[in-house]
Amino acid sequence: MNSRPKKIVCIGAGYVGGPTMAVIAARCPDVQVMVLDLNAERIAAWNSDNLPVFEPGLREIVRQVRGRNLHFHPQAQGVSALAEADVVFISVQTPTKTTGEGAGKASDLQYVEACALLIAEHARGHTIVVEKSTMPVRAAERIQQILSTTQAGSTFAVLSNPEFLAEGTAIRDLEHPDRVLIGGEDPAAVAALKSIYASWVSPEKILTTGLWSAELSKLAANAFLAQRVSSINSLSALCEKTGAEVSEVAKVVGADSRIGPKFLQASVGFGGSCFQKDLLSLIYLCEHYALPEVAAYWQGVVDINEWQKRRFAEAVQQASVNRRVAVLGLAFKKDTNDFRESASLSVCRRLLQSGLEVIAYDPRVDGQRFAAELASPSHFSIATTAAQALAGAGAVAVLTEWDEFRSIPWATAKLSPGAVICDGRNIVDRLAVQQAGYGLRVIGSAVP
Ligand code: NAD
Ligand code: UGA
Repeated sequence: MNSRPKKIVCIGAGYVGGPTMAVIAARCPDVQVMVLDLNAERIAAWNSDNLPVFEPGLREIVRQVRGRNLHFHPQAQGVSALAEADVVFISVQTPTKTTGEGAGKASDLQYVEACALLIAEHARGHTIVVEKSTMPVRAAERIQQILSTTQAGSTFAVLSNPEFLAEGTAIRDLEHPDRVLIGGEDPAAVAALKSIYASWVSPEKILTTGLWSAELSKLAANAFLAQRVSSINSLSALCEKTGAEVSEVAKVVGADSRIGPKFLQASVGFGGSCFQKDLLSLIYLCEHYALPEVAAYWQGVVDINEWQKRRFAEAVQQASVNRRVAVLGLAFKKDTNDFRESASLSVCRRLLQSGLEVIAYDPRVDGQRFAAELASPSHFSIATTAAQALAGAGAVAVLTEWDEFRSIPWATAKLSPGAVICDGRNIVDRLAVQQAGYGLRVIGSAVP
């Protein structure tokens, strides 16, 4: 089939499935898009005004297309749509395995495999099955194998179409991607999927490769991005010892056009659901293919990140003038309500373990859900404003770069006398802190 697909189904209504399908529906009004999820509560939220994902611009797009050519259904009710679908996207989670072979490193493909089984059972005629989830190299082989168990005489073409959006900028990234990647060996299927993206992406930005290259390119892209963060974070420690300023070093290094300025912002450590799990998946693949030196190289990126989070938590612990620490920011970056694998989770766990009391504020994260991820939440509480979190604190840990934390009125903040602000994002107004008489420690800086 090389004609333009008319019916798309996406399995998985998460941070990728929801926004991606909303943009496809908006840019392809002639295509009907249905999103299915096992989680009926999440589907109900997609059908409400209170979307389960916070992304700038998402709500407006969903309002525009929902009920027109974008539909959200609980899987049990919408599964019959698979029979008529021209294209089925698999956009479910691929977390790190916690048990069995490869536990702690390999990607857990159970959710993807369940989708392939469902498609094998319900699809009819010819269907293009698209890996949107991030997969290990050669995962498509496993999908093909499962699809081939169909009893309905259906045929399939499997493509890899990994997603490169970043949370917080998902809509912009989807509407104006640096590139779209389609990997596959079936030219008609590749052309069909290309025709969807070509509705708004210029042809030179739609890259086509073999299946295995596409699967590996996604892991490689995340590994390169994470490596830049670990590189600058490793130097942030050296800056603190030597008096160099990490922001100045990053500016100079990034001014080299061969290096570029992006992703050189020193931080308390990268977080999010993907960098670490994708690095671990890459490391596992290297070990599987007997490449221990390559595995060790990428392991270093993970290790520096763990070290950065640990040393920041220790610095906060040492700096606090009493037992109460205010944490500003729970999300793994600004402009998202996502806190999966956030540096805040790691830092809060350490502070609580060391017997400190933590009071946290984040403008978007659901504090109760965050607290549920902590082993000992009894000394953890949530404030509804930054000022409330700061009152009486002996130290402040700034962990997410929300814009409002750039202009905290330190002069009127009611911190404990002598309290120290530990800035894990290098965003705090240094002069305002100094004028208010509080101490300051900034990641990558020896000042003051
Ligand atoms: P998510 O956890 O937010 O969403 C996954 C959804 O799939 C959940 O709602 C879950 O209920 C549903 N699901 C799981 N198994 C199912 C099944 N058998 N049938 C129906 N629904 C099922 O995950 P996400 O953040 O959207 O990530 C999805 C994939 O995309 C991952 O592989 C991830 O690595 C990749 N990715 C994520 C991002 C990101 O920014 N979050 C960006 C690029 C790529
Ligand atoms: C990342 C990639 O940027 C996306 O291209 C990719 O699609 C996605 O992973 C994925 O596969 O899930 P995301 O994790 O949403 O996107 O957000 P990023 O902007 O990459 O930030 C990741 C982490 O690195 C955040 O904690 C952020 O604060 C941190 N970071 C980023 C820094 O500490 N310094 C920087 O300079 C940049």
